[in-house]
Amino acid sequence: MNEAIRETLLEAVRNGGATMRQRVGHVTVSYKTSWSDLVTEVDKAVEEAVFDLVKRRFPDHGVLGEEGGGAFDREYTWILDPLDGTTNFAHTLPNYVCSLAVCRGREVVAGAIYDPNRDELFFAARGEGATLNGQPIQVDAAPSLREALIGTNLLWDTRENRFASLPELQSLGQQVRGVRSLGAAALELAYVACGRLTGFAQFRLGPWDFAAGILLVAEAGGTATQFSGDPVDVTHASSVVASNGRVHGELLRYLQQA
Ligand code: 2AM
Ligand code: CA
Repeated sequence: MNEAIRETLLEAVRNGGATMRQRVGHVTVSYKTSWSDLVTEVDKAVEEAVFDLVKRRFPDHGVLGEEGGGAFDREYTWILDPLDGTTNFAHTLPNYVCSLAVCRGREVVAGAIYDPNRDELFFAARGEGATLNGQPIQVDAAPSLREALIGTNLLWDTRENRFASLPELQSLGQQVRGVRSLGAAALELAYVACGRLTGFAQFRLGPWDFAAGILLVAEAGGTATQFSGDPVDVTHASSVVASNGRVHGELLRYLQQA
């Protein structure tokens, strides 16, 4: 791993997390696509600060962020969710993180996720494993869904006027030990990587929600795919199923029954 890239990733997400800690409880909430799709000035301020840092250090690299857009038109692209878990943040519920990944072409080569409330820094570089605060991490050992704790989030879909949830959540729920909604996809993927969750599945995500997380899961010994079972292409995918690998086939079968 290029040392300058690694340092910038870690510095950027730590700074982002520090801004969240300073400003939580004192923010103005605005609406994006609907009354349930939120953004605060902290999302925008963190995105601006992170991309200023990246562009200063790597003027040839491209950026893609949740708040400002961007494109995959350079050899390297930095993909940022400045504040994953915005609804939690707006409610002062301490489940929110800063997530930043670096892609070479379409392949995620490094990623960092920082949780400022627990001071937990997750990092992975392709081929080099995944760490939490510098210590190697791995996915949990659950051999089947019966022993699995699975994360997913319900989204209110204002266009279809219904909850957009995992298909077959009802029947999947009967097969697993428990289902959890932490409200921050990047945090949930980091938790799959370190074995706190056995798996995570959600649709309608953006690349910023999962780019760093899927590399963490893979480098921690797990598997991440789309709902179809195909590999996750960060330039197109919107669904993610991640797991410890051992339950992946079973998990996909339940999800695909819908
Ligand atoms: P966000 O907090 O960065 O918006 C919560 O359900 C998880 O899904 C969060 O990771 C959230 O990311 C993500 N998400 C993606 N699109 C969403 C939407 N339209 N409304 C709420 N959460 C969304
Ligand atoms: Ca966000």
